[in-house]
Amino acid sequence: MTREEEIARRRTFGIISHPDAGKTTLTEKLLLFGGAIQTAGAVKSNKIKKGATSDFMEIERQRGISVATSVMGFEYKNKKINLLDTPGHEDFAEDTYRTLTAVDSVIMVIDCVKGVEPQTRKLLEVCRMRQTPVMVFINKLDREGQDPFDLLDEIEKELRIRVRPLTWPIGIGKTFKGVYNLQSKDIILFAASSSNLPSAAVTIKDINDPELVRLVGEGHAKKLREDVELINGVYDDFDVQEYLDANISPVLFGSAVNNFGVRELLDCFVNIAPEPRGRETDIKQVEPADKKFTGFIFKIHANIDPNHRDRIAFLRVCSGTFERNKKYHHVRQNKDLRFNNPTAFMAQEKNIIDEAFPGDIIGLYDSGNFKIGDSLTEGEDLNFKGIPRFSPELFRYVMNADPMKSKQLQKGLEQLTDEGVAQLFTKLTNNQKILGTVGALQFEVIQYRLKGEYTASCNFEHVSLYKAMWVSCPDHKKLDAFVQDKFNHMAKDKDGRYVFLAESSWALQMAQEKNEDITFHEKSEF
Ligand code: G4P
Repeated sequence: MTREEEIARRRTFGIISHPDAGKTTLTEKLLLFGGAIQTAGAVKSNKIKKGATSDFMEIERQRGISVATSVMGFEYKNKKINLLDTPGHEDFAEDTYRTLTAVDSVIMVIDCVKGVEPQTRKLLEVCRMRQTPVMVFINKLDREGQDPFDLLDEIEKELRIRVRPLTWPIGIGKTFKGVYNLQSKDIILFAASSSNLPSAAVTIKDINDPELVRLVGEGHAKKLREDVELINGVYDDFDVQEYLDANISPVLFGSAVNNFGVRELLDCFVNIAPEPRGRETDIKQVEPADKKFTGFIFKIHANIDPNHRDRIAFLRVCSGTFERNKKYHHVRQNKDLRFNNPTAFMAQEKNIIDEAFPGDIIGLYDSGNFKIGDSLTEGEDLNFKGIPRFSPELFRYVMNADPMKSKQLQKGLEQLTDEGVAQLFTKLTNNQKILGTVGALQFEVIQYRLKGEYTASCNFEHVSLYKAMWVSCPDHKKLDAFVQDKFNHMAKDKDGRYVFLAESSWALQMAQEKNEDITFHEKSEF
Protein backbone atom coordinates (compact mmCIF):
# COMPACT_ATOMS: atom_id res chain seq x y z
CA MET A 1 0.00 0.00 0.00
CA THR A 2 1.33 3.47 -0.79
CA ARG A 3 1.75 6.13 1.87
CA GLU A 4 -1.15 8.08 0.36
CA GLU A 5 -3.40 5.02 0.58
CA GLU A 6 -2.34 4.41 4.17
CA ILE A 7 -3.26 7.97 5.11
CA ALA A 8 -6.55 7.88 3.21
CA ARG A 9 -7.78 4.82 5.10
CA ARG A 10 -7.20 6.21 8.59
CA ARG A 11 -10.08 7.44 10.74
CA THR A 12 -9.04 8.88 14.09
CA PHE A 13 -11.85 9.86 16.42
CA GLY A 14 -13.10 10.12 19.98
CA ILE A 15 -16.44 9.48 21.66
CA ILE A 16 -17.70 12.18 23.98
CA SER A 17 -20.67 12.29 26.32
CA HIS A 18 -21.91 13.34 29.68
CA PRO A 19 -21.14 10.53 32.18
CA ASP A 20 -23.64 7.68 31.99
CA ALA A 21 -24.99 8.45 28.52
CA GLY A 22 -23.40 5.23 27.26
CA LYS A 23 -19.92 6.10 25.97
CA THR A 24 -18.25 3.04 27.50
CA THR A 25 -20.98 0.70 26.28
CA LEU A 26 -20.82 2.13 22.77
CA THR A 27 -17.02 1.92 22.71
CA GLU A 28 -17.22 -1.70 23.65
CA LYS A 29 -19.78 -2.53 20.99
CA LEU A 30 -17.74 -0.76 18.32
CA LEU A 31 -14.70 -2.79 19.34
CA LEU A 32 -16.73 -6.00 19.19
CA PHE A 33 -17.85 -5.15 15.66
CA GLY A 34 -14.32 -4.29 14.69
CA GLY A 35 -13.20 -7.67 16.04
CA ALA A 36 -10.76 -5.88 18.33
CA ILE A 37 -12.17 -7.56 21.44
CA GLN A 38 -14.02 -10.83 21.75
CA THR A 39 -15.91 -10.35 24.98
CA ALA A 40 -17.86 -7.54 26.51
CA GLY A 41 -16.59 -6.10 29.77
CA ALA A 42 -13.04 -5.43 28.64
CA VAL A 43 -13.50 -1.69 28.37
CA LYS A 44 -16.03 -1.40 31.12
CA SER A 45 -13.55 -2.49 33.80
CA ASN A 46 -11.50 0.54 32.95
CA LYS A 47 -14.19 3.02 33.79
CA ILE A 48 -13.96 5.26 36.81
CA LYS A 49 -17.34 4.94 38.46
CA LYS A 50 -18.86 8.19 39.52
CA GLY A 51 -19.23 8.42 43.26
CA ALA A 52 -17.21 5.27 43.93
CA THR A 53 -16.18 5.16 47.59
CA SER A 54 -12.52 5.87 47.05
CA ASP A 55 -12.39 7.32 43.60
CA PHE A 56 -8.73 8.05 43.56
CA MET A 57 -7.56 4.61 44.69
CA GLU A 58 -9.66 3.39 41.83
CA ILE A 59 -7.81 5.76 39.53
CA GLU A 60 -4.49 4.39 40.73
CA ARG A 61 -5.62 0.86 40.08
CA GLN A 62 -6.81 1.81 36.66
CA ARG A 63 -3.83 3.88 35.65
CA GLY A 64 -2.03 0.59 35.13
CA ILE A 65 -4.51 -0.72 32.61
CA SER A 66 -5.71 2.48 31.05
CA VAL A 67 -2.60 2.83 28.86
CA ALA A 68 -3.97 -0.05 26.83
CA THR A 69 -7.31 1.63 26.27
CA SER A 70 -5.92 5.11 25.62
CA VAL A 71 -5.99 4.32 21.93
CA MET A 72 -8.03 1.47 20.57
CA GLY A 73 -7.08 0.65 17.01
CA PHE A 74 -9.03 -1.72 14.83
CA GLU A 75 -9.74 -2.54 11.22
CA TYR A 76 -13.24 -2.27 9.75
CA LYS A 77 -14.15 -2.42 6.07
CA ASN A 78 -10.56 -1.81 5.10
CA LYS A 79 -10.32 1.33 7.22
CA LYS A 80 -7.79 1.66 10.02
CA ILE A 81 -9.78 3.08 12.89
CA ASN A 82 -8.14 4.76 15.86
CA LEU A 83 -10.57 5.35 18.69
CA LEU A 84 -9.11 7.59 21.38
CA ASP A 85 -10.39 7.15 24.89
CA THR A 86 -11.60 10.24 26.70
CA PRO A 87 -12.13 10.05 30.44
CA GLY A 88 -15.78 10.43 31.29
CA HIS A 89 -15.15 11.59 34.84
CA GLU A 90 -15.65 15.35 34.85
CA ASP A 91 -12.64 15.94 37.12
CA PHE A 92 -10.56 14.82 34.18
CA ALA A 93 -12.23 17.08 31.64
CA GLU A 94 -8.88 18.70 30.77
CA ASP A 95 -7.57 15.32 29.65
CA THR A 96 -10.52 15.01 27.35
CA TYR A 97 -10.04 18.50 25.92
CA ARG A 98 -6.45 17.67 25.09
CA THR A 99 -7.32 14.33 23.54
CA LEU A 100 -9.77 16.12 21.29
CA THR A 101 -6.82 17.98 19.71
CA ALA A 102 -5.56 14.65 18.39
CA VAL A 103 -8.75 13.44 16.70
CA ASP A 104 -10.21 14.30 13.30
CA SER A 105 -13.84 13.80 14.26
CA VAL A 106 -16.07 13.00 17.18
CA ILE A 107 -19.12 10.87 17.96
CA MET A 108 -21.26 12.49 20.63
CA VAL A 109 -23.54 10.22 22.65
CA ILE A 110 -26.75 11.66 24.06
CA ASP A 111 -29.12 9.87 26.43
CA CYS A 112 -32.63 10.16 24.96
CA VAL A 113 -34.11 10.45 28.45
CA LYS A 114 -31.81 13.18 29.71
CA GLY A 115 -31.12 15.08 26.50
CA VAL A 116 -28.31 17.65 26.50
CA GLU A 117 -26.34 17.65 29.78
CA PRO A 118 -23.65 20.04 31.13
CA GLN A 119 -20.62 18.00 30.11
CA THR A 120 -21.99 17.61 26.57
CA ARG A 121 -22.17 21.38 26.32
CA LYS A 122 -18.57 21.94 27.41
CA LEU A 123 -17.18 19.24 25.15
CA LEU A 124 -19.05 20.58 22.19
CA GLU A 125 -17.51 24.01 22.77
CA VAL A 126 -14.09 22.40 22.39
CA CYS A 127 -15.18 20.74 19.14
CA ARG A 128 -16.53 24.05 17.90
CA MET A 129 -13.26 25.83 18.67
CA ARG A 130 -11.44 23.36 16.46
CA GLN A 131 -14.21 22.92 13.86
CA THR A 132 -14.22 19.19 14.48
CA PRO A 133 -16.97 17.31 12.59
CA VAL A 134 -19.46 15.80 15.06
CA MET A 135 -21.77 12.83 14.54
CA VAL A 136 -24.54 12.36 17.10
CA PHE A 137 -25.72 9.02 18.49
CA ILE A 138 -28.94 9.23 20.48
CA ASN A 139 -28.82 6.31 22.87
CA LYS A 140 -31.12 4.29 25.13
CA LEU A 141 -34.12 4.23 22.79
CA ASP A 142 -35.32 1.22 24.77
CA ARG A 143 -36.12 3.69 27.58
CA GLU A 144 -39.03 6.10 27.80
CA GLY A 145 -37.17 9.04 26.30
CA GLN A 146 -38.21 12.40 24.94
CA ASP A 147 -39.92 12.87 21.61
CA PRO A 148 -37.22 12.69 18.89
CA PHE A 149 -38.25 16.02 17.31
CA ASP A 150 -38.03 17.71 20.72
CA LEU A 151 -34.62 16.12 21.29
CA LEU A 152 -33.30 17.41 17.98
CA ASP A 153 -34.66 20.87 18.78
CA GLU A 154 -33.01 20.78 22.17
CA ILE A 155 -29.68 19.73 20.64
CA GLU A 156 -29.85 22.52 18.06
CA LYS A 157 -30.75 25.18 20.61
CA GLU A 158 -28.63 24.11 23.54
CA LEU A 159 -25.52 23.19 21.59
CA ARG A 160 -25.94 25.77 18.86
CA ILE A 161 -25.39 23.26 16.06
CA ARG A 162 -27.45 22.22 13.06
CA VAL A 163 -28.50 18.59 12.91
CA ARG A 164 -29.77 16.24 10.21
CA PRO A 165 -31.31 12.87 11.19
CA LEU A 166 -30.11 9.95 9.07
CA THR A 167 -32.17 7.34 10.87
CA TRP A 168 -35.48 7.73 12.65
CA PRO A 169 -36.91 5.81 15.62
CA ILE A 170 -40.19 3.94 15.38
CA GLY A 171 -41.75 4.17 18.84
CA ILE A 172 -39.68 4.61 22.00
CA GLY A 173 -39.24 2.83 25.32
CA LYS A 174 -41.63 -0.09 25.75
CA THR A 175 -43.08 0.45 22.30
CA PHE A 176 -39.72 0.84 20.55
CA LYS A 177 -39.93 -1.09 17.27
CA GLY A 178 -36.77 -0.18 15.48
CA VAL A 179 -35.27 2.51 13.29
CA TYR A 180 -35.92 3.58 9.75
CA ASN A 181 -32.87 4.48 7.71
CA LEU A 182 -33.89 7.69 5.95
CA GLN A 183 -31.25 7.22 3.27
CA SER A 184 -31.21 3.51 2.40
CA LYS A 185 -34.94 3.20 3.25
CA ASP A 186 -34.28 0.08 5.31
CA ILE A 187 -36.14 -0.75 8.46
CA ILE A 188 -34.09 -2.35 11.19
CA LEU A 189 -36.37 -4.08 13.67
CA PHE A 190 -35.47 -3.91 17.31
CA ALA A 191 -34.77 -7.07 19.26
CA ALA A 192 -33.17 -6.58 22.67
CA SER A 193 -29.85 -8.35 22.47
CA SER A 194 -26.47 -7.94 23.98
CA SER A 195 -24.90 -10.41 21.57
CA ASN A 196 -22.50 -9.46 18.88
CA LEU A 197 -25.05 -10.06 16.16
CA PRO A 198 -26.77 -7.06 14.63
CA SER A 199 -30.49 -7.13 13.97
CA ALA A 200 -31.52 -7.94 10.42
CA ALA A 201 -32.53 -5.09 8.14
CA VAL A 202 -35.74 -5.24 6.11
CA THR A 203 -35.79 -3.06 3.04
CA ILE A 204 -39.00 -1.12 2.49
CA LYS A 205 -38.87 0.56 -0.86
CA ASP A 206 -41.89 2.66 -0.10
CA ILE A 207 -43.13 3.46 3.38
CA ASN A 208 -46.68 3.37 2.02
CA ASP A 209 -46.15 -0.35 1.37
CA PRO A 210 -48.67 -2.36 3.49
CA GLU A 211 -45.69 -4.51 4.53
CA LEU A 212 -44.76 -1.68 6.93
CA VAL A 213 -48.01 -2.18 8.85
CA ARG A 214 -47.30 -5.88 9.14
CA LEU A 215 -43.85 -5.16 10.51
CA VAL A 216 -44.55 -2.41 13.03
CA GLY A 217 -48.34 -2.19 13.37
CA GLU A 218 -50.89 0.31 12.10
CA GLY A 219 -50.25 3.09 14.63
CA HIS A 220 -46.47 3.11 14.27
CA ALA A 221 -46.69 2.88 10.48
CA LYS A 222 -48.95 5.95 10.35
CA LYS A 223 -46.71 7.89 12.73
CA LEU A 224 -43.55 7.00 10.78
CA ARG A 225 -45.13 8.18 7.52
CA GLU A 226 -46.06 11.48 9.11
CA ASP A 227 -42.64 11.87 10.73
CA VAL A 228 -40.79 11.17 7.49
CA GLU A 229 -42.93 13.70 5.64
CA LEU A 230 -42.15 16.27 8.31
CA ILE A 231 -38.42 15.48 8.27
CA ASN A 232 -38.28 15.84 4.50
CA GLY A 233 -40.10 19.15 4.80
CA VAL A 234 -38.02 20.57 7.63
CA TYR A 235 -34.51 19.35 6.88
CA ASP A 236 -32.42 19.86 3.76
CA ASP A 237 -30.88 16.82 2.11
CA PHE A 238 -27.83 15.63 4.00
CA ASP A 239 -24.66 17.08 2.52
CA VAL A 240 -21.49 15.25 3.57
CA GLN A 241 -19.36 18.28 2.85
CA GLU A 242 -21.37 20.32 5.35
CA TYR A 243 -20.66 17.68 7.97
CA LEU A 244 -16.94 17.67 7.09
CA ASP A 245 -16.93 21.47 7.38
CA ALA A 246 -18.46 21.06 10.85
CA ASN A 247 -21.59 22.95 9.81
CA ILE A 248 -24.04 20.12 10.30
CA SER A 249 -24.19 17.04 12.53
CA PRO A 250 -25.79 13.85 11.26
CA VAL A 251 -27.88 12.08 13.91
CA LEU A 252 -28.47 8.35 14.36
CA PHE A 253 -30.64 6.60 16.94
CA GLY A 254 -30.07 3.32 18.78
CA SER A 255 -29.48 1.43 21.96
CA ALA A 256 -25.85 0.63 22.65
CA VAL A 257 -26.43 -1.88 25.43
CA ASN A 258 -28.74 -3.83 23.12
CA ASN A 259 -26.27 -3.60 20.30
CA PHE A 260 -28.89 -1.86 18.26
CA GLY A 261 -28.09 0.82 15.71
CA VAL A 262 -24.37 0.43 16.44
CA ARG A 263 -23.51 -1.20 13.14
CA GLU A 264 -25.43 1.47 11.24
CA LEU A 265 -23.44 4.05 13.16
CA LEU A 266 -20.13 2.38 12.38
CA ASP A 267 -21.03 1.91 8.70
CA CYS A 268 -22.07 5.52 8.42
CA PHE A 269 -18.89 6.58 10.23
CA VAL A 270 -16.52 4.73 7.89
CA ASN A 271 -18.43 6.12 4.92
CA ILE A 272 -18.37 9.79 5.82
CA ALA A 273 -15.93 10.50 8.67
CA PRO A 274 -12.93 12.61 7.66
CA GLU A 275 -9.50 11.31 6.75
CA PRO A 276 -6.57 12.72 8.75
CA ARG A 277 -6.77 16.49 8.59
CA GLY A 278 -4.09 19.16 8.52
CA ARG A 279 -2.96 20.96 11.66
CA GLU A 280 -1.91 24.54 12.25
CA THR A 281 1.54 25.42 13.55
CA ASP A 282 3.12 28.75 14.44
CA ILE A 283 4.72 29.03 11.00
CA LYS A 284 2.48 27.13 8.56
CA GLN A 285 -0.34 24.68 8.07
CA VAL A 286 0.98 21.10 8.10
CA GLU A 287 -0.84 18.67 5.80
CA PRO A 288 -0.83 14.86 6.15
CA ALA A 289 0.51 14.58 2.60
CA ASP A 290 3.62 16.63 3.45
CA LYS A 291 6.70 14.44 3.04
CA LYS A 292 8.52 15.40 6.24
CA PHE A 293 7.46 13.86 9.52
CA THR A 294 5.83 16.03 12.18
CA GLY A 295 3.75 15.23 15.25
CA PHE A 296 2.81 16.52 18.68
CA ILE A 297 2.40 15.16 22.20
CA PHE A 298 -1.14 15.42 23.54
CA LYS A 299 -1.02 13.14 26.54
CA ILE A 300 1.56 11.81 28.96
CA HIS A 301 0.96 8.74 31.03
CA ALA A 302 3.20 8.04 33.99
CA ASN A 303 4.23 4.48 34.47
CA ILE A 304 2.52 2.74 37.30
CA ASP A 305 5.73 1.04 38.40
CA PRO A 306 7.29 3.23 41.13
CA ASN A 307 10.73 1.77 40.41
CA HIS A 308 10.76 3.34 36.98
CA ARG A 309 10.30 6.98 36.21
CA ASP A 310 9.41 6.06 32.67
CA ARG A 311 6.40 7.62 31.14
CA ILE A 312 4.60 7.08 27.89
CA ALA A 313 4.09 10.17 25.77
CA PHE A 314 1.30 9.87 23.22
CA LEU A 315 2.12 11.42 19.88
CA ARG A 316 -0.25 12.16 17.04
CA VAL A 317 1.47 11.79 13.68
CA CYS A 318 0.52 14.83 11.55
CA SER A 319 2.64 14.47 8.41
CA GLY A 320 5.31 12.32 6.80
CA THR A 321 6.14 8.84 8.05
CA PHE A 322 7.36 8.16 11.56
CA GLU A 323 10.14 5.58 11.55
CA ARG A 324 11.53 3.60 14.42
CA ASN A 325 15.17 4.31 15.38
CA LYS A 326 15.34 7.45 13.28
CA LYS A 327 16.46 10.69 14.93
CA TYR A 328 13.78 13.34 15.36
CA HIS A 329 13.98 16.92 16.48
CA HIS A 330 12.45 17.91 19.81
CA VAL A 331 11.67 21.52 18.98
CA ARG A 332 11.21 23.00 22.49
CA GLN A 333 14.40 21.44 23.84
CA ASN A 334 16.27 21.88 20.58
CA LYS A 335 17.72 18.39 20.68
CA ASP A 336 17.49 15.20 18.69
CA LEU A 337 15.92 12.03 20.06
CA ARG A 338 15.76 8.48 18.81
CA PHE A 339 13.03 6.02 19.74
CA ASN A 340 13.82 2.33 19.59
CA ASN A 341 10.54 0.94 20.86
CA PRO A 342 7.64 3.13 19.73
CA THR A 343 4.33 1.38 20.30
CA ALA A 344 1.04 1.26 18.52
CA PHE A 345 -2.15 0.29 20.25
CA MET A 346 -4.53 -2.29 18.89
CA ALA A 347 -7.33 -2.38 21.45
CA GLN A 348 -5.96 -4.55 24.25
CA GLU A 349 -2.51 -4.99 22.79
CA LYS A 350 0.58 -2.88 22.52
CA ASN A 351 2.96 -3.61 19.68
CA ILE A 352 6.31 -2.17 18.79
CA ILE A 353 6.00 -0.65 15.35
CA ASP A 354 8.49 0.22 12.63
CA GLU A 355 6.51 3.00 11.06
CA ALA A 356 3.39 5.07 11.56
CA PHE A 357 1.38 7.35 9.29
CA PRO A 358 -0.57 10.59 9.71
CA GLY A 359 -3.65 9.93 11.81
CA ASP A 360 -1.85 7.31 13.90
CA ILE A 361 -1.20 7.65 17.59
CA ILE A 362 2.01 6.17 18.92
CA GLY A 363 3.35 5.76 22.42
CA LEU A 364 6.94 6.92 23.04
CA TYR A 365 8.83 5.90 26.16
CA ASP A 366 10.03 9.05 27.82
CA SER A 367 12.26 9.70 30.79
CA GLY A 368 11.11 13.27 31.29
CA ASN A 369 11.84 15.01 27.98
CA PHE A 370 8.27 15.73 26.99
CA LYS A 371 5.61 18.17 28.04
CA ILE A 372 2.09 18.22 26.70
CA GLY A 373 2.00 20.22 23.49
CA ASP A 374 5.61 19.46 22.45
CA SER A 375 6.32 19.13 18.74
CA LEU A 376 8.57 16.53 17.16
CA THR A 377 9.84 17.04 13.59
CA GLU A 378 12.40 15.98 11.03
CA GLY A 379 14.34 19.14 11.74
CA GLU A 380 11.84 21.92 11.11
CA ASP A 381 11.39 24.47 13.90
CA LEU A 382 7.65 24.53 14.17
CA ASN A 383 5.21 24.31 17.05
CA PHE A 384 1.74 22.89 16.77
CA LYS A 385 -1.02 25.15 17.96
CA GLY A 386 -4.19 24.38 19.75
CA ILE A 387 -3.44 22.52 22.96
CA PRO A 388 -4.87 25.15 25.23
CA ARG A 389 -4.99 25.07 28.97
CA PHE A 390 -8.13 26.51 30.48
CA SER A 391 -8.35 28.52 33.65
CA PRO A 392 -8.61 26.01 36.50
CA GLU A 393 -11.64 26.07 38.74
CA LEU A 394 -10.09 25.00 42.05
CA PHE A 395 -6.93 26.42 43.60
CA ARG A 396 -4.71 25.34 46.52
CA TYR A 397 -1.44 26.62 47.99
CA VAL A 398 1.16 23.87 48.10
CA MET A 399 2.93 23.61 51.48
CA ASN A 400 5.97 21.41 51.79
CA ALA A 401 5.33 18.92 54.59
CA ASP A 402 8.87 17.54 54.67
CA PRO A 403 11.61 20.19 54.52
CA MET A 404 14.25 17.51 53.84
CA LYS A 405 12.51 16.65 50.60
CA SER A 406 11.99 20.02 48.97
CA LYS A 407 13.97 19.06 45.85
CA GLN A 408 11.84 15.94 45.40
CA LEU A 409 8.69 18.01 45.84
CA GLN A 410 9.90 20.50 43.25
CA LYS A 411 10.69 17.75 40.76
CA GLY A 412 7.44 15.90 41.42
CA LEU A 413 5.38 19.03 40.91
CA GLU A 414 7.27 19.85 37.71
CA GLN A 415 6.73 16.41 36.24
CA LEU A 416 3.14 15.94 37.32
CA THR A 417 2.17 19.30 35.91
CA ASP A 418 4.06 18.46 32.67
CA GLU A 419 1.74 15.48 32.46
CA GLY A 420 -1.18 17.86 32.75
CA VAL A 421 -2.49 16.54 36.07
CA ALA A 422 -2.79 20.16 37.26
CA GLN A 423 -1.49 23.63 36.47
CA LEU A 424 1.21 25.29 38.49
CA PHE A 425 1.35 29.03 39.17
CA THR A 426 4.02 30.90 41.11
CA LYS A 427 2.97 34.07 42.91
CA LEU A 428 5.09 37.13 42.19
CA THR A 429 5.02 38.40 45.79
CA ASN A 430 6.55 35.45 47.60
CA ASN A 431 7.17 32.71 45.03
CA GLN A 432 4.46 30.65 46.66
CA LYS A 433 3.24 27.78 44.51
CA ILE A 434 -0.44 27.48 43.67
CA LEU A 435 -1.90 24.39 42.03
CA GLY A 436 -5.01 24.77 39.92
CA THR A 437 -7.26 21.91 38.79
CA VAL A 438 -10.64 21.25 37.27
CA GLY A 439 -11.71 18.72 39.88
CA ALA A 440 -11.03 18.10 43.58
CA LEU A 441 -9.89 14.57 42.84
CA GLN A 442 -6.64 15.74 41.26
CA PHE A 443 -5.38 17.13 44.58
CA GLU A 444 -5.67 13.70 46.14
CA VAL A 445 -4.03 12.13 43.12
CA ILE A 446 -1.12 14.59 43.33
CA GLN A 447 -0.56 14.04 47.04
CA TYR A 448 -0.67 10.30 46.57
CA ARG A 449 1.67 10.27 43.60
CA LEU A 450 4.14 12.71 45.14
CA LYS A 451 4.50 10.33 48.03
CA GLY A 452 4.63 7.14 45.99
CA GLU A 453 6.80 8.28 43.09
CA TYR A 454 8.89 11.13 44.50
CA THR A 455 8.94 10.43 48.28
CA ALA A 456 7.75 13.99 48.82
CA SER A 457 4.92 15.15 51.05
CA CYS A 458 2.81 18.21 50.80
CA ASN A 459 -0.26 19.77 52.35
CA PHE A 460 -2.73 21.96 50.59
CA GLU A 461 -4.16 25.18 51.84
CA HIS A 462 -7.33 26.57 50.38
CA VAL A 463 -7.02 29.70 48.20
CA SER A 464 -10.20 31.48 47.42
CA LEU A 465 -9.82 32.31 43.75
CA TYR A 466 -12.38 32.64 41.03
CA LYS A 467 -10.17 32.35 37.97
CA ALA A 468 -6.61 32.52 36.71
CA MET A 469 -6.58 34.69 33.58
CA TRP A 470 -3.64 35.00 31.23
CA VAL A 471 -2.99 38.66 30.41
CA SER A 472 -1.43 40.25 27.36
CA CYS A 473 -0.84 43.65 25.80
CA PRO A 474 1.08 44.57 22.65
CA ASP A 475 2.66 47.47 24.58
CA HIS A 476 5.11 45.93 27.07
CA LYS A 477 5.28 49.08 29.15
CA LYS A 478 1.54 48.98 29.73
CA LEU A 479 1.69 45.32 30.65
CA ASP A 480 4.51 46.02 33.13
CA ALA A 481 2.50 48.86 34.66
CA PHE A 482 -0.49 46.54 35.06
CA VAL A 483 1.69 43.88 36.68
CA GLN A 484 3.08 46.43 39.17
CA ASP A 485 -0.38 47.75 39.93
CA LYS A 486 -1.81 44.26 40.59
CA PHE A 487 1.43 42.81 41.99
CA ASN A 488 -0.31 41.07 44.92
CA HIS A 489 -2.65 39.29 42.52
CA MET A 490 -0.14 38.30 39.88
CA ALA A 491 1.53 34.97 39.22
CA LYS A 492 3.50 33.31 36.44
CA ASP A 493 2.53 30.04 34.79
CA LYS A 494 5.07 27.30 34.06
CA ASP A 495 6.07 28.96 30.81
CA GLY A 496 6.74 32.25 32.57
CA ARG A 497 3.65 34.04 31.33
CA TYR A 498 1.75 36.52 33.47
CA VAL A 499 -1.50 35.36 35.02
CA PHE A 500 -3.96 37.55 36.90
CA LEU A 501 -5.50 35.75 39.89
CA ALA A 502 -9.03 37.05 40.20
CA GLU A 503 -10.66 36.57 43.59
CA SER A 504 -14.19 37.02 42.30
CA SER A 505 -16.04 37.69 39.08
CA TRP A 506 -16.49 41.24 40.34
CA ALA A 507 -12.73 41.69 40.86
CA LEU A 508 -12.15 40.42 37.35
CA GLN A 509 -14.74 42.72 35.88
CA MET A 510 -13.25 45.72 37.71
CA ALA A 511 -9.75 44.86 36.54
CA GLN A 512 -11.02 44.57 32.97
CA GLU A 513 -12.93 47.84 33.09
CA LYS A 514 -10.03 49.80 34.56
CA ASN A 515 -7.43 48.35 32.21
CA GLU A 516 -8.89 48.52 28.76
CA ASP A 517 -5.52 48.04 27.05
CA ILE A 518 -4.97 44.69 28.71
CA THR A 519 -6.55 41.56 27.25
CA PHE A 520 -7.64 38.87 29.70
CA HIS A 521 -7.62 35.31 28.34
CA GLU A 522 -9.43 32.37 29.84
CA LYS A 523 -7.22 29.95 27.98
CA SER A 524 -3.47 29.78 27.69
CA GLU A 525 -3.38 30.05 23.91
CA PHE A 526 -4.16 33.42 22.42
P1 G4P B 1 -20.65 6.29 30.18
O1 G4P B 1 -19.42 5.57 29.73
O2 G4P B 1 -21.11 7.31 29.20
O3 G4P B 1 -20.55 6.86 31.55
O4 G4P B 1 -21.86 5.26 30.23
P2 G4P B 1 -21.90 3.66 30.29
O5 G4P B 1 -21.60 3.09 28.95
O6 G4P B 1 -21.13 3.14 31.44
O7 G4P B 1 -23.45 3.47 30.54
C1 G4P B 1 -24.10 3.97 31.69
C2 G4P B 1 -25.26 3.07 32.04
O8 G4P B 1 -26.22 3.10 30.97
C3 G4P B 1 -24.87 1.62 32.21
O9 G4P B 1 -25.70 1.07 33.21
C4 G4P B 1 -25.21 1.01 30.86
O10 G4P B 1 -25.46 -0.37 30.93
C5 G4P B 1 -26.46 1.78 30.52
N1 G4P B 1 -26.75 1.81 29.08
C6 G4P B 1 -25.91 2.02 28.04
N2 G4P B 1 -26.56 1.96 26.86
C7 G4P B 1 -27.85 1.72 27.16
C8 G4P B 1 -29.02 1.54 26.37
O11 G4P B 1 -29.02 1.58 25.15
N3 G4P B 1 -30.19 1.31 27.04
C9 G4P B 1 -30.25 1.23 28.39
N4 G4P B 1 -31.44 0.99 28.95
N5 G4P B 1 -29.16 1.38 29.18
C10 G4P B 1 -27.98 1.62 28.57
P3 G4P B 1 -25.21 0.87 34.69
O12 G4P B 1 -26.34 0.26 35.41
O13 G4P B 1 -24.64 2.15 35.22
O14 G4P B 1 -23.99 -0.07 34.53
P4 G4P B 1 -23.96 -1.63 34.26
O15 G4P B 1 -24.18 -2.20 35.61
O16 G4P B 1 -25.05 -1.95 33.28
O17 G4P B 1 -22.62 -1.87 33.74
